[in-house]
Amino acid sequence: MIQCNNITKVYKNGDTETKVLKGVSLAIKTGEFVAIMGPSGSGKSTLMHILGALDSPTSGTYTLDGEDVSKLSDDQLAEVRGKKIGFVFQAFNLLSRATVLRNVMLPLVYAGTKPEERQKKAQKALLSAGLDEDRWNHLSNQLSGGQIQRVAIARALVNDPALIMADEPTGNLDTKTGQIVLGTFQRLNEEQGRTIILITHEQEVAEHADRIIFIRDGLIIEDKKNLHKRMIDKNLV
Ligand SMILES: Nc1ncnc2c1ncn2[C@@H]1O[C@H](COP(=O)(O)OP(=O)(O)OP(=O)(O)O)[C@@H](O)[C@H]1O
Ligand SMILES: [Mg+2]
Repeated sequence: MIQCNNITKVYKNGDTETKVLKGVSLAIKTGEFVAIMGPSGSGKSTLMHILGALDSPTSGTYTLDGEDVSKLSDDQLAEVRGKKIGFVFQAFNLLSRATVLRNVMLPLVYAGTKPEERQKKAQKALLSAGLDEDRWNHLSNQLSGGQIQRVAIARALVNDPALIMADEPTGNLDTKTGQIVLGTFQRLNEEQGRTIILITHEQEVAEHADRIIFIRDGLIIEDKKNLHKRMIDKNLV
């Protein structure tokens, strides 16, 4: 699904250049659940923005489902995102004056989905994200952190994306709520076959993925199968 070769990203601010990604090569297959780990400032969010077609690399190539997306215009990138990718950001970006249902329907308004279909799709996404139906007409500022996070996940799901990207989705949650949210990702991966890329700096969070990629200082320093998860799944630990 994802194939990137020697990607670099350099930010220019006036005379100063910051080289954030220094040559990242990576392949991710459809249906994989991958965690990206690394210290603060190592380039995780920058990489996610490129993999998520929110930004273009300075050099290198990136193909998504066989299409070279490293050289697309902003409009073309937006189209790729709308069709294929759902995002869960750490700052949830929910509209506080709109109900849960309206927040989840919003991406469909931009995608031009017919009004009568929007509600059905939003309800389906909320069910998949595991938010109880009695919360659907609440305003987002009347929800707990974990519930807000489920709304953010539902919103990422509403376009039925094959690829879901989440940047520190449990960063603001207590351990128990975090576990529930991670369970949701696991279900979306195992039962619905969605590809998941999850960014985190916590080992316990990364343990939910099948594969863990470590990035430091703009480079991949390790890329390994998460054997621990298989042991958890089989109740061996
Ligand atoms: N627009 C920008 N202009 C200049 N430098 C930037 C810009 N965006 C990010 N950076 C720098 O790039 C580096 C990597 O940032 P990035 O957000 O990818 O880190 P991260 O690994 O996601 O960190 P964190 O765990 O803190 O979220 C940081 O040093 C950051 O200051
Ligand atoms: Mg980040």
